This record gives sequence, C-alpha cells and structure tokens, in this order.
Amino acid sequence: MAIESPRKEARKRAGPGSKNTAGLDLDELRQLWLKPLWLVLSDAFTAEPNTQIVPYNWRWKDVRPRILEAGRRISAEEAERRVLMYLNPGLNGAPGATQTLFSGIQLIMPGEIAPTHRHVPSALRVVVEGNGAYTTVSGEKTLMHPGDFVTTPNWAWHDHGNESDEPMMWLDGLDMPFVLALNAMFYEELGNGYEIQPVTKALDDSQLRYNRGFRPHDDRFSGNYSPILNYRYTDVRETLDTMERAGDATSEEEGVMLDYINPLTGGPTLPTIDAHAQLIRPGEHTRAVRDTASRLYHVLDGRGTSVIGGVTLEWEKGDTFCAPTWMWREHQVASADAPAVLFSFDDAPIQKPFSLYRKQALHQGSGKQADL
Ligand SMILES: [Fe+2]
Repeated sequence: MAIESPRKEARKRAGPGSKNTAGLDLDELRQLWLKPLWLVLSDAFTAEPNTQIVPYNWRWKDVRPRILEAGRRISAEEAERRVLMYLNPGLNGAPGATQTLFSGIQLIMPGEIAPTHRHVPSALRVVVEGNGAYTTVSGEKTLMHPGDFVTTPNWAWHDHGNESDEPMMWLDGLDMPFVLALNAMFYEELGNGYEIQPVTKALDDSQLRYNRGFRPHDDRFSGNYSPILNYRYTDVRETLDTMERAGDATSEEEGVMLDYINPLTGGPTLPTIDAHAQLIRPGEHTRAVRDTASRLYHVLDGRGTSVIGGVTLEWEKGDTFCAPTWMWREHQVASADAPAVLFSFDDAPIQKPFSLYRKQALHQGSGKQADL
C-alpha cells in the first residue's frame, strides 16, 4: 500500500480544489488586493495544458462572398486594412484565432492600395485568390500568386497594392495576441498614412540572393528573421511532389511535410511563428499527434477531414481551421486519387527557447502515448 505524504493527506481532508478559507475575511482581503492562492491553485497548476481555444473551421464558401461584399461596401482607404478577422469562438470576440495567433482574410480590389505602416507583431500572408498584386517590405516588392507565402518581420515597413485586374485575397497571420498579452505593441504609419514606400531593390531581390543555395559573400544581414520575402508555392509544390515520389521524408503523423526556413539559420522564418506545408497522400489517414503549440491550417489544395480534440472538421481548398494547444489532431484525405496540401503556422518558436514545448504521438491500437 502506498504511503501518502502529509501534504497529500491534508489536501484530501480539505476536499477537492481546497475551498477552505480558514476563516479569513475574503472581503477584507479583496479590498487590499489579496487572495489566498490555495483557493485557486488547481485552476492555474493544471496537470496538462488547459485552453479556452476551440477547434473551428472558417469555411471559404462562407468567407469569400462576405469579404467580397465588404469590398463593395467599404474602400480600402476607408478601412485602412480591409480584413475580416477569424475569431476563435472560445475567445468571446477578442481578436485571435488562437491565444497567440491572429488570422483573417484581406481583400485588395484592382487599383487599390493599402498604405505603408509598420508594427512590432510579425506577420505572414498566404495568397488565397488573385494574381499579380504586390506587397512591398523594406523597399523590396514582390508580385503574389496563389499559395505564395510572404513574410513581414517585426517593425518592417510594408504596403500592398493591386495593379492587376482581379480581386486579391490573402490570409493574414500575425503574433498579435501574443504581443498584446505582453503589452508590447508599437505601430506607426509612414508620412501622412497614405503613402507608398519607395521601392529600392530589384523585384524579388531576396529570392535571387538567398533562395538558391547561395549567400552574398561578406553578407551583413543580421535580422532574426528570414531574409527571403516570398516563398513561391510553385517551388513548394514541386518539392512536396518530389518528396512524395521518393517515398521518404514522410512521417506517420504529418504525411509529406516541409518547413519554411530562414536559410541563414535553418530555423523558422519569423522569430515567433513557424510555418510548414504538408502533402497528405490520397486515402491517407495520419496518426494522431498533439503538441503544446497552437496552430492554424490553411487548405492550399484538395479536401479532407480532420479530427481535432474530438471535433470533426471537414475542409476544402480555401478553408482555414485551428488546432488548439495539446489537442490530438489527425487528418484524412478521402479521395483515392487526389492529395491534399495544407499550409500551417504555429507558435512553437515562442515556446521552445523556454523549454515549454512538448509533443506526443498516439499509437493506434495500444492507445499508448509517446513523446516525440
Ligand atoms: Fe500590417
């Protein structure tokens, strides 16, 4: 028979969650901004991560007509940024798709611009629809196409414009809720708030310098983010298809997956956000996995189903769904002849330097959990 410690015995006597006020005057304590920790200890020190974030899928068929309607009703100039935010149903309307990550859909109509500004939240874009609109970051301009992944580092001047003849819609991803939780926000507009920043570099300058296995000799780049502005989906898809054909570099949990990296460090493209693309093969059903990162998926191609924290989400191209912290997730592609490609971004880089990151796989059949 196990011998219990005196502390555990005392806890048992006090009852579950110990609501023993010990006769203290809680009203008086409250006026002095004091409270016994033992009354709320079990709420804070949970055995495993606890989150108010819930799994949810923002369906493109719901979002697309509504952002286009916003395009008819409000100009980009009036809105400054014409974005429909993706709100997590667990956050009571606070801006955030998870507790650390903001996401939303942004629309720029032909001929419009979104003027230059900068902020300390790091940002990424993934093009959902449209061809040839541009983003300029720190003097470098890039033309964007579906699936392209564009980074905007902390405090970098950026603006957008659409010189094409079709609407441009992209998914925004920012670490804004994390920055707000730290009360560390800074934001600034260039000039009078309607300016386009001067383009000082050649088109796709950073891709030509850094995305070909080269680096300029005596390079002075010292940012803690990737120097590459735009990671082309055509490149991503070619690499995923090559990996899939080779049959290697795959995992039971993630299918055929690649990480977007800073080529100078091998680490994530942004200091607070990691990004990935994964191809799930026709008919594949991935093994359940969970980690302490919160994560957003965006469907670049195909259709399928994910079970996240026991909730089944059906998704198709253009949809964006979230996987909360420490919830088991698994994906399935129903089609026998077409793969699915998921883009995802997560807050793991915030957790890893502080030893907060954990990951587990679930072995089907035995139900055993294994640390990864
Ligand atoms: Fe911005």
